[in-house]
Amino acid sequence: MARKLNFSSGPAALPEEVLRNAQGALLDLDGSGIGILEHSHRGPEFGRVLERTEAAIREVGGISDAYAILFVTAGATHHFAMVPQNFLGAGQTADYCDTGIWSGKAIEEARRVGTVHVACSGAPAFDAVPRELTFSPAPRYVHYTSNETIYGTQWATPPVAPAPLVCDASSDIFSRPLVLENHALIYAGAQKNLGPSGISLVIARKDFLETGAVDLPPLAQYRTYAKEQSMHNTPNTFGVYIIGEVVSWIREQGGLSAMAERNTRKAKVVYDFLDQSTLWKGHAQPASRSMMNITFRGATRELEATMLARAEERGLSGLKGHRSVGGLRASIYNAFPEEGVQRLVELLDDVEHGRG
Ligand SMILES: Cc1ncc(COP(=O)(O)O)c(C=O)c1O
Repeated sequence: MARKLNFSSGPAALPEEVLRNAQGALLDLDGSGIGILEHSHRGPEFGRVLERTEAAIREVGGISDAYAILFVTAGATHHFAMVPQNFLGAGQTADYCDTGIWSGKAIEEARRVGTVHVACSGAPAFDAVPRELTFSPAPRYVHYTSNETIYGTQWATPPVAPAPLVCDASSDIFSRPLVLENHALIYAGAQKNLGPSGISLVIARKDFLETGAVDLPPLAQYRTYAKEQSMHNTPNTFGVYIIGEVVSWIREQGGLSAMAERNTRKAKVVYDFLDQSTLWKGHAQPASRSMMNITFRGATRELEATMLARAEERGLSGLKGHRSVGGLRASIYNAFPEEGVQRLVELLDDVEHGRG
């Protein structure tokens, strides 16, 4: 079996050893004689999976007991609505940082629920995280998207805000040390750095959860997940298992600082190439460059088409940019191998110079 170099933005490449261990666990979880997909979520075997997954997340993320760890059976989009439903009450305003398509969608959902103030906007180019933020007089929370997957920009550090931060960390969670300070809630769809799609991880301050709305259906309230260990109904047991394995893998690699070093090294190889190239150009401004999603354009559409065709021939997959911005995008999350970025720049260089 020849595995391709997978530059997909998500679902995305996962550590190969996690996938191999999962193969075994499909038939037999931890020597129980029953596979992970077949175990009752109320049984002791899954209980141990849930426990060790949460413990690994706490250890790797440095997350204290003041925060709850929740597994929500839904993608990050679900939280675009769930956050304002829980925390944006009548007469209140929530501030949102608009750094691209994903924050735009979060803003759209929040506006269905209540009053939104846009604290900053990178429109129309979305090639940088805005430096100037203007807040409303008393925001209920301040929402930002730590990494804009489509435009390829990333907050180098969280915004400084006069209210608790809520962060969509879907595309850079656990790619660098987690900053919890000033954060009330962090949510992330799992399908980039953590595991499969259709499950999200939420890290939320317990006291903040208690301030949420009480008149919503139980599964629409974050506090239900906190009170019932994400087991109000049958959770995505396989998703929880894979997240646990991926986070344990991160721990074995040296944790989040080691991940950050490796991710910075990988991204630098590509950005350095783009900076010296005459035909390829990065989209994001240097101070806002994403370490996870590198977006770039060729001098002509033909060059981009040639590159994509050559990439497929050489087993480099998933490099086409998002349909809304075009160009190319290399998503190089935690599990993406270092030698993969070398192969990418070799190919870009070959195409630039008409070789191969
Ligand atoms: C930053 C960000 N937020 C939200 C989402 C939406 O995630 P989902 O499709 O799991 O709802 C994505 C998906 O790629 C994303 O990159």
